[in-house]
Amino acid sequence: MLNKKKIIPYGHQWIDKKDIKEVVKVLRGDWITQGPNVERFERAVAKYCRVKYAVAVSSGTAALHAAYTAAGIKTGDEVITTPLTFAATANCIVFCGGKPVFVDIQKDTLNIDPKKIEEKITKKTKAIAVVDFAGHPCDHDEIKKIAKKHKLLIIEDAAHSLGSKYKDKRIGSLADMTILSFHPVKIITTGEGGMVLTNNKDFYEKLKIFRHHGTIKKPQKGGWYYEIEKPGYNYRLTDFQCVLGLSQLKKIDKFIKKRREILRRYNKAFKGINEIIAPTERDYVKSAWHIYPIQLNLGKLKVSRKKIFEELQKKGIGVQVHYIPLHLQPFYKKKFNYKKEDFPTAEKYYERAITLPLFPKMINKEINKVIQIIKKLIKPYKK
Ligand SMILES: Cc1ncc(COP(=O)(O)O)c(C=O)c1O
Repeated sequence: MLNKKKIIPYGHQWIDKKDIKEVVKVLRGDWITQGPNVERFERAVAKYCRVKYAVAVSSGTAALHAAYTAAGIKTGDEVITTPLTFAATANCIVFCGGKPVFVDIQKDTLNIDPKKIEEKITKKTKAIAVVDFAGHPCDHDEIKKIAKKHKLLIIEDAAHSLGSKYKDKRIGSLADMTILSFHPVKIITTGEGGMVLTNNKDFYEKLKIFRHHGTIKKPQKGGWYYEIEKPGYNYRLTDFQCVLGLSQLKKIDKFIKKRREILRRYNKAFKGINEIIAPTERDYVKSAWHIYPIQLNLGKLKVSRKKIFEELQKKGIGVQVHYIPLHLQPFYKKKFNYKKEDFPTAEKYYERAITLPLFPKMINKEINKVIQIIKKLIKPYKK
C-alpha cells in the first residue's frame, strides 16, 4: 500500500474483494441488521476461540460495558485493572458506578503485575479486568489463583489479542468473560464492532438482554410480548458487519502470521541498537501482535521522545503512543485521587513509548522504510 504522499499508518485494516462481495450480498438482501449472519459470526468466533457462547455487539466498548454489567458491577464496587490501557477498559467500570483500582504493570509484558494485585483487594473488590497489552496474554495462572482465593471474577479485555495463545490455549475461555474489538486496526475488523465470549450460560443470557434494550421475551404471553426488568442499550451489530467479520475470520491465521513476521523483522533490525527497547514475548505465549510498541532508551539519547515522534511523522511514519496511563487523565485524578508517580512502571514506559506501524497488509518496502528511517534518525542523537 506504499504511496509516496501517504503516511504509513500504525495500523490498518485489510479488506479484500471477497469481503466486499460478501457485504454487498447482504446489503442486497432482506436482512441488514438482525439477520442470520449475526449468529453465524458468533458461532464462528466461539469455535475459533474454543468457548461456548459469544455475543456480538456494536464495539469493544459496548462489549466491556455489557460484560461489567453482566458481572453485576454496580455503584460502590471496585474493579482492579491496569492503567496502561485504552480508556474504555476503565471508563466502562465508571459507567456501571464502579471504581477502577489501578495496579502497576510488569516491565516486560506491560500487562498488570499479578504480584501487586492482592495488596489492592478490599471488601468492595468484585473483579479483575486484565488487558492483553499489544496482544501479549496476561499471567492467567497467577491471576486465576488470586481471583479464586478472593472470589473475584476475571474479565479479559482481549481487544488486542484475538488469536493469541497462553500456554497453547487460545484466549477466549481463560477468563469468566473475554471481550473483543473489531475496530479496523484490530486483528480482524467489522468496521466498528465487538464481542463478549463466555462459558457461563447465565452471563450469556444477561449479555443478550443488555444488548437489546433490556427486553426479555415471554412468548407464552404472546408472540409480541416482552418485559423489561432493567433498561439495556441498543448495542447490536448489523448483519452486514457480521458477514464482513465472518469473511475476515477466514483470513485470521494469515493476518497473525504476517503480524508475527513483521515483528520478527523489526526485532532483528533493532537488535544491538541500545537506544531502542523492542517488545518481547514470554516463551509460553504466542502473541497476535496488534501493535509494535518500542521504548526509547532516553538515557542514551540526546533528544526527547517528542522530537523523535515528530520527526518520524514528518518523514511519513504514522507513529502513535499507546497509551497515556489512565491514572494521569484529569477525570481519574479528580474523581479517584490518582496522581503522578502512583504507577512508576507504567509511567516510565509511557514516557519512552512510540508505536511503529504494524499491520498485515504492510509491504516489504514499507517495513524497510520504517527500519531505515528509525536507524538514520537515531544515529546523530546517540550520546
Ligand atoms: C484495550 C482496548 N480495550 C477496549 C477498546 C475499545 O474497543 P472499541 O474501539 O471497539 O470500542 C480498545 C480499542 O481501541 C482497546 O484497545
